[in-house]
Amino acid sequence: MTNVDVLAAGVLKAGTLDGLPNGHFVDGAFTPSTHNKTLESYDPGRGEAFASFAAGSAEDVNQAVESSKRAFETVWRDTAPAERGRTLMKAAELIRANLHRLAIAESLDSGKPLQEALGDVGGAARTFEYYAGACDKLQGDSFPLAGDYIGYSIHEPVGVTAHIIPWNFPISTAARGFAPALAAGCTVVAKPAEQTPFTALMLAKILSDAGLPDGVCNVITGLGAETGAPLTLHPDVDHITFTGSVQTGRTVMKAAAEDITRVVLELGGKSPVIVLNDANRDEALAGVMGAIYENAGQICSAGSRLVIERGMHAGFVEELVKRAESLRIGHGLTRPDLGPVNSAAHLDKVAGFVERARAGGATIATGGSVTTDPETGKGWFYQPTIIDNASPKDEAVREEIFGPVLTVQIADDAEHALALANDCQYGLVAGIYTQDFGKAHQLARRIDAGQIYINEYFAGGIEVPFGGNKKSGFGREKGIEGLKSYCKTKSIAARIA
Ligand code: NAI
Ligand code: MG
Repeated sequence: MTNVDVLAAGVLKAGTLDGLPNGHFVDGAFTPSTHNKTLESYDPGRGEAFASFAAGSAEDVNQAVESSKRAFETVWRDTAPAERGRTLMKAAELIRANLHRLAIAESLDSGKPLQEALGDVGGAARTFEYYAGACDKLQGDSFPLAGDYIGYSIHEPVGVTAHIIPWNFPISTAARGFAPALAAGCTVVAKPAEQTPFTALMLAKILSDAGLPDGVCNVITGLGAETGAPLTLHPDVDHITFTGSVQTGRTVMKAAAEDITRVVLELGGKSPVIVLNDANRDEALAGVMGAIYENAGQICSAGSRLVIERGMHAGFVEELVKRAESLRIGHGLTRPDLGPVNSAAHLDKVAGFVERARAGGATIATGGSVTTDPETGKGWFYQPTIIDNASPKDEAVREEIFGPVLTVQIADDAEHALALANDCQYGLVAGIYTQDFGKAHQLARRIDAGQIYINEYFAGGIEVPFGGNKKSGFGREKGIEGLKSYCKTKSIAARIA
């Protein structure tokens, strides 16, 4: 066993992790909620509460926003870009130094397999490193005016930015928002999901240890209605980055409309993975498995619809079924192939989709039931499930299930695959498996989605912009484009003669 696995085994035995943050993180310190109320967070692998955290209120949100506004106006806006970069680079270093503890907290709180949590924390460090290097490269333009004029632009930070974070990728989503916001010179008030509050708090403390001035990054924990909603309505918040459900995204967008606050919305998906007859079969099989079973399918960009060309279908689904049935189900901290889903309520939701599909006569090739950790008989697990021969009209094909449930649609040819791929209210991601790169690029251009993965699902990194079309939202995170979301362009034009 490696170091981290020894630690994880200890945590599993104890049922909790010692020294978890206690309170909101405001003005550089942990503080209790003004009403002294707390909530409990659950370990989905056992379905048991393991720690409590502060249940925030609108008053806590006000204090955090006030602190972030003050820090913006008095310190961070005017900190030299190179200095901001050094702080973010130091944060990347400290995230790596705390890799094991952060990953264990993430796995315990969200349920995700430890190896995936380790990857997420490594990715968070990489995100800070990437934006650390970008701080002093936010250059403006100069404009070709007539000789008597000069024109140029500068990128100014938008101000206080709110970050509302979901439970499926707590630290990744926090890092993806905090790092570019801080790089641009903005300050942060974050609201992690009530199911997974801890790693955002740990990240805020790490940033503070890295030298981030007090108030530049504040985190308030609590329920969406009690903390998220007042945050989105706060008049001193200048920008909102929201990741989560379409329904809450809509509420957030309406709240933002009150004050004409800027928003970036990263919402759901129902992403197709197109496998054509000439694909490399083994690569496609591995790609489809990862696309739907990583994080138990609770990924906005999960590849949840296999769209397969008829000649490839026979044998391919049988092989997927075989692989799905051999996945080891277990507690996240034991590095299973498939972990639990995040909550009892979410488990019911996933099960409901499959039950309705079954009642409608769907071909459930494997799975289709709620289950538990075979070692303990506990936890909120759902079997890896495949619904074969699905029709474009099926609810299971049209709606985001957000669980380990794959639907399979058969296409007559590439053109039909394209039509099936685009017949969707979402437009987040599409995967394409073919060895004909010309065909892949033709399809990539015609699929209505924010990103396309060719021959490796989830290919890319922090360098590549990410975001949705249609009901998947708008705005882009990651890459330099993600940094620009936190900037206001100011153009300056002058007559000089
Ligand atoms: P949600 O969208 O309600 O929660 C996301 C975040 O928004 C959480 O931090 C929550 O506290 C906050 N929030 C809730 N109500 C708010 C409000 N009125 N104003 C501001 N913030 C608010 O999603 P939830 O309830 O956790 O899950 C519902 C479904 O959404 C899931 O079953 C899943 O299908 C989908 N989902 C999609 C995600 C994605 O990445 N696309 C992530 C999480 C959930
Ligand atoms: Mg939890």
